[in-house]
Amino acid sequence: MWQPGHGKCNEAGRLERMVDILSGRASNETKAATGVAMASVKHDLAVIGAGPGGYIAAIRAAQLGLAVACIDREDKPGGTCLRIGCIPSKALLESSARFHGVQRELADHGIVVDGASFDLGAMMARKQRIVDELTSGVAGLFRKYGVRSYHGSARLLGGGRIALSGAEPLELEARHIIIATGSEPAPLKGIDADGEYIGDSTTGLGFGDVPERLCIIGAGYIGVELGSVWSRLGSRVLLLEYLDRILPGTDSELAHKAQAIFSRQGLEFRLGARIHSARVEDAGARRQVVIELDGGESIRCDRLLVATGRRPCTAGLGLEESGIKLDGRGFIQVDGRFETSLPGVYAIGDVIGGPMLAHKASHEGAACAELIAGGTGEVNYAAIPAVVYTEPELASVGQTEDALIEAGVDYRKGVSLFRANGRAKALGAAEGFVKVLADKETDRLLGVHILGPRAGDLIGECALALEFGAASEDIARTCHAHPTLAEALQEAAAACYGKPLNS
Ligand code: NAI
Repeated sequence: MWQPGHGKCNEAGRLERMVDILSGRASNETKAATGVAMASVKHDLAVIGAGPGGYIAAIRAAQLGLAVACIDREDKPGGTCLRIGCIPSKALLESSARFHGVQRELADHGIVVDGASFDLGAMMARKQRIVDELTSGVAGLFRKYGVRSYHGSARLLGGGRIALSGAEPLELEARHIIIATGSEPAPLKGIDADGEYIGDSTTGLGFGDVPERLCIIGAGYIGVELGSVWSRLGSRVLLLEYLDRILPGTDSELAHKAQAIFSRQGLEFRLGARIHSARVEDAGARRQVVIELDGGESIRCDRLLVATGRRPCTAGLGLEESGIKLDGRGFIQVDGRFETSLPGVYAIGDVIGGPMLAHKASHEGAACAELIAGGTGEVNYAAIPAVVYTEPELASVGQTEDALIEAGVDYRKGVSLFRANGRAKALGAAEGFVKVLADKETDRLLGVHILGPRAGDLIGECALALEFGAASEDIARTCHAHPTLAEALQEAAAACYGKPLNS
């Protein structure tokens, strides 16, 4: 397990720290912990936040020879993604999909399983094991590259100084500072979350039992993923979305098709829903949530999750006092080198806005560290993939068709259906399609959107193609193994430049 301050926090650790001090090996951090007078601890770079943005920045900077500190207020590194986001949700998505598959799909293969059931506690324990292994992995990488971990809440004091509050208050000094504090669920007006009956994505990853009726406000990434988990485990799930479509920002053709598939799987959607308020009420022997919609309608459910977006974590960092500028939505403003309005202080990841995706944050973290170390780091925002881990998955990179239409770009479109793909049929997952978009005149790839099995893995090739400035013909003329799902991409690319072979 990750131990702040290199794990020396028990009595034996205290003795060891004293030995370090007496032998002159001790850092000031160690001295602070033992009550010995100290100056502030100096580093080349201090990274605030040990999520996928912060820990990657810290590791890359350490690899490049900088003396690096990484601070986090949680007692494990990994941030939202590893602890309470991407990773635990994927663990539950996988477990629930397997259960669903045993019940609904095995018969088609001629496999008969009677009386399948699941142990929710064991499912949650598996999820936690995966989280623990990965967070320990980050701690291990910190040790390997000599990144010093600090536990506590950081506050900028100006002049490269950072105050750390926590069990062992401390002051750090660094020539460079990266703020990578991420984001948190945005609360919704009129709804007081109690973390049990009314909660957010974190609550939805840890229910102790399967709610009979689950409502989720917001049919974005989190809404459809968590809705899928609990629906597969037996909840009746209703998603309340105020727009007239689900998954805003994704290609609307994919989103509409996905909604139809999810509805067949049992998810209910109420589009154009305007929520007025929600409260927990005693309903006989049990408690229930009552959601009031604008117009007077009310809906009852056993649990309510709010998944209406996230907001940057900036409170308590001392940004205003330091003169660090925020934009109108509270994100930290940075220039092309990730530097804030305060020289020497940089920011990356969710806290600077843009797609709130772990890999975008990591990419920025590596680039920012390289720039600080005197190298050339950059992020190509035109080639950042996005994946929704439902079944089928949705994956996209580049521009959506909606954006091309709006911008008046002349484009060509090639589509290939998974039902014409041998591997997808053999997998029993032949729903969905691949859509390739390319410039009409030059054939240069503009975007790829996939709704289908393992779309999240298939999109890697598309991101690479975009990064290399490929044409749709390049993908079509690249030999893809048979039978694979990637052939659907090849076929869509071939259709895009006008020479489909299998459709
Ligand atoms: P989101 O922005 O994806 O979706 C929020 C949804 O809530 C939108 O459809 C919005 O129209 C709706 N909404 C907002 N206010 C509402 C209201 N008052 N009533 C009804 N509906 C309302 O945000 P989400 O799902 O909370 O995810 C947050 C971030 O986390 C996203 O930026 C996403 O990229 C990231 N994420 C990424 C995942 C992945 O990569 N697979 C998984 C989960 C989250």
